[in-house]
Amino acid sequence: MNVVKGVRLKNFRCHGEFDLDCNRPTTLIIGENGSGKTSVLEAIYLALRGKSFKGVDKEILKRDEGFYRAEVELEDAQKIIIRFDGNKKEFEIDSKKSARLPKKNRYPVVLFEPDDIYLVSSSPSRRRDYFDELFKQINDNYGLVLGKYNKALRQRNDLLKREIVGKDDLFSWNIMCANYGAELIKWRVRNLDKINEKMTAVYRDIANNQDNCRIEYLGEVVSESEYLQKLEANFERDRILGHTSFGVHRDDYEFIFNDKKADGSASRGENRSMILSLKFIEAQILEKEVGKKPVVLLDDIFSELDEMRQKHLVNNFKNYQMIITSTTVPSEMRVDKEL
Ligand SMILES: Nc1ncnc2c1ncn2[C@@H]1O[C@H](COP(=O)(O)OP(=O)(O)O)[C@@H](O)[C@H]1O
Ligand SMILES: [Mg+2]
Repeated sequence: MNVVKGVRLKNFRCHGEFDLDCNRPTTLIIGENGSGKTSVLEAIYLALRGKSFKGVDKEILKRDEGFYRAEVELEDAQKIIIRFDGNKKEFEIDSKKSARLPKKNRYPVVLFEPDDIYLVSSSPSRRRDYFDELFKQINDNYGLVLGKYNKALRQRNDLLKREIVGKDDLFSWNIMCANYGAELIKWRVRNLDKINEKMTAVYRDIANNQDNCRIEYLGEVVSESEYLQKLEANFERDRILGHTSFGVHRDDYEFIFNDKKADGSASRGENRSMILSLKFIEAQILEKEVGKKPVVLLDDIFSELDEMRQKHLVNNFKNYQMIITSTTVPSEMRVDKEL
C-alpha cells in the first residue's frame, strides 16, 4: 500500500541534508514551527505531481546554494530524482530525463493544509484554486484547458485595455474563451455532482446526526454558444471596465449546510466536519477516476482538530498511505522522524 518508501533531500528549503524512511503505512514527522516539516511534504508532492503546492524552484532552493536535489523512492524500487541547478529543473526516472514529470508517473495526492479548514469562508479565488487543483488531478486535461483559457483571457483583457478596440478585434479570443470556458464548466459541474453524491452520507458518519450538506456551483452553467453570446453582449461594459466581466474565472463554490449557506450559518465544528468529509471524498474519487490509491499528506492539521475529528481522520484514511506532520505527538501515534 505504500507508494512512497523514502525521501532524500539536498539543499531543499531549510534542509541541507535530509532523509526519511516511509516503510510503515503511516509516517509521522514531528518538529517545531519552522523546522522544515512542510518542506518535506512539498518535496513528496513535487515527486508525485510534478509541481510544488507552495512555490517555484528558485524559492525552494536553499539560500546561498547552487542546486537542489530531491530523491523520492517509490514502490517497486522506482526512484524519482528531481534536480534544479538554479535555472533548469529536470526529473529523472529509470535514467530517463525530462523537464516535466511524465503523466504516467503522476500519482494522485490528497493534501490537507491548515488553510483548508477555512475553505468554507475563504475568498472566492482561494476556493477556485482549491477546486481547480483537485479537478486537475481528476481530469487529465483539466489543467491543460484551464491554462489555455487563462491565456486567451489574458489576451482578451489586454485588448480591452487598449485605447481603441473594436468588437471584431475580440472575436477569436471570444471563441477561445467560450470553447475552453464551457468545457471547464462541464467538468466542474460533473465533479461537483460526484462529490455531492457522497457528501451528506460521509458527513453524517463523522457528525453522527441527520444534518445534510453539499457544495453548489456559483456560476452560470451555459453552453459554448451561450457563453460566446454573453461575451459578445458584454463588449461595451468590458471595454469600460478594461477586463472580462463574465466567465469561469469569476465563478465560485458555495458550501450549503442544512439547505442554507454554510458560511454564516454552520458552526466552526460543522465547517470542519464538512472539510473532513470533502477530503475523504477526494480520496475516494481520485482512487476511482485515476485508478491509483492517492497518498494522503496531512500538514500540521492535528492541532486544528479535536480528538473526535482526529480519530475520524486517521480512521477514514487507514487504507491509504499517510504522511503526517505535527508539532505535538497525537495520541497513540509513533514518531518516525523528529526535526
Ligand atoms: N529557500 C530556502 N532556504 C532556506 N530556508 C528556507 C527556504 N525557504 C524556506 N526556508 C525556511 O525554512 C523553514 C521551514 O519551513 P517549513 O517547511 O514551512 O517549516 P514547518 O512546516 O516545520 O513550519 C522556515 O523557517 C523558512 O523560513
Ligand atoms: Mg508547516
